[in-house]
Amino acid sequence: MVIFGASGDLTSRKLVPALFNLSVDGLLPEHFYLIGYGRKAVQEDQFRSSLKKSLGSFSRREIKENIWSKLEPNISFHSGGYDDASSFDLLKTEIEEIEKSAGAPVQSIFYLSTPPSGFLPILENLGNSGLARMHHNTRSASKVIVEKPFGRDLESARELNQMINRRFAESQVFRIDHYLGKETVQSLLVQRFANTIFEPVWNRNYVSSVQITVSEDLGVGSRAGYYDRSGALRDMIQNHVMQLLALTAMEPPSSLDPEAIRDEKVKALQAIKPLILDNSYSEVVRGVYTEGLVGGEKAVGYLEEEGVPSASFTETYTALSLQLDNWRWKGVPFYIRSGKRLKEKISEIVVQFTRPPAILFGQNSSQPLSPNLLRIRIQPDEGVSLSLNSKTPGLETKLQPVNLSFGYDTTFGSNTPEAYERLILDAMLGDGTLFIRGDEAEHSWNLLSPVLEYWQNLGQNGLEGYSAGTWGPLASDKLLLQKGHEWITNK
Ligand code: BG6
Repeated sequence: MVIFGASGDLTSRKLVPALFNLSVDGLLPEHFYLIGYGRKAVQEDQFRSSLKKSLGSFSRREIKENIWSKLEPNISFHSGGYDDASSFDLLKTEIEEIEKSAGAPVQSIFYLSTPPSGFLPILENLGNSGLARMHHNTRSASKVIVEKPFGRDLESARELNQMINRRFAESQVFRIDHYLGKETVQSLLVQRFANTIFEPVWNRNYVSSVQITVSEDLGVGSRAGYYDRSGALRDMIQNHVMQLLALTAMEPPSSLDPEAIRDEKVKALQAIKPLILDNSYSEVVRGVYTEGLVGGEKAVGYLEEEGVPSASFTETYTALSLQLDNWRWKGVPFYIRSGKRLKEKISEIVVQFTRPPAILFGQNSSQPLSPNLLRIRIQPDEGVSLSLNSKTPGLETKLQPVNLSFGYDTTFGSNTPEAYERLILDAMLGDGTLFIRGDEAEHSWNLLSPVLEYWQNLGQNGLEGYSAGTWGPLASDKLLLQKGHEWITNK
């Protein structure tokens, strides 16, 4: 595996801990070599020892010396530019040397974990050097893993896809969205399609809204340089949140074949109606955090964060109200939102069912009967709960919603594999189910690029402040109130 951008955060925090844990589980190939590729000159010893150190902080399991001592000698560092053709020729020679010493063809996996500006030159050079086509059409064909962000808008995503497809076949390409590697996201398919009770009610006849929240309590931290050019829509909505939506809304696939699943996700994304973007009525809300209290601690506003330009109008919060124009979902709003410096870190999908008629119960009460809610918690407290109306004990007939809950931790224990372990393993095995296909990325951008243009034209106008530690701007509550709903997670 060649990691481009190897001195970056992702390598030490996620990729190397994932490789280590795969090795602990005996899931790495017997002969595994890691080449870190970066623009800085880094001594090999230094590279190895810094990786070992970060394992201590970021691996979910303690370092096992017997495992590390097997991995370590096969880790090397290659410094070179991303647009330096001769450096890629050298890389090819290094890989051929490895083949000689292993006595067999090796499969190369190129992991693009650089800033997005690195993607095109790296792909170009992987192509020109022959690395992309190494062992073409054999089991050892090269693969490429592309980190997010996958483009900045529809046009750049198309350009990236075209470049990738000139060099690699789609079966060699693995576009990462780490949310798809989360255990709870994978089990969404199982919950929907391995239980009989959901399918009959999973539609416009019984569901009044679907809400997807991916909130974070942290601010931009040290990533202002990246984040200010991205914003919540590009950073979280276009990828993670749209993936959750596609999995919730899609039709049952005909099989578990990766293409069958991805075809259905694409159809769900295609069914989303273009958003209404108008000053008098808009289905999108954006906000930016101002100073406030998060978990009792004072937090500065986005514009005061280190590295954020004072004239920035990047959004740190986005909410959208979406409609799917298909037989299953017509008329059911999908409310989605994501933001930084919100009250809590929560990722969840809430399916709100239609309210029961107040005929037998509830007709004399000022409170209408509560609708049933199915909450699928992606993180933290991973699990599923279903709220039902129940009678409180006593002589009077009083009703109260109660929860039937299932928690992953309590049922299965907590040491589940990290998303990157699953994703790296699947990419090595060539299983693309949990990766984004090129057309999926483009459909998502197709919906959201007009929003970016609209905001660009508005400048600061309509960018609402919200105090850090709250649930976001008021306009986001109004977005739902217009349709008679409110955010359930906030309650
Ligand atoms: C990343 C975003 O993709 O996901 C970050 O770039 C965000 O801004 C992160 O903090 C959230 O991931 P998780 O797994 O902590 O929910």
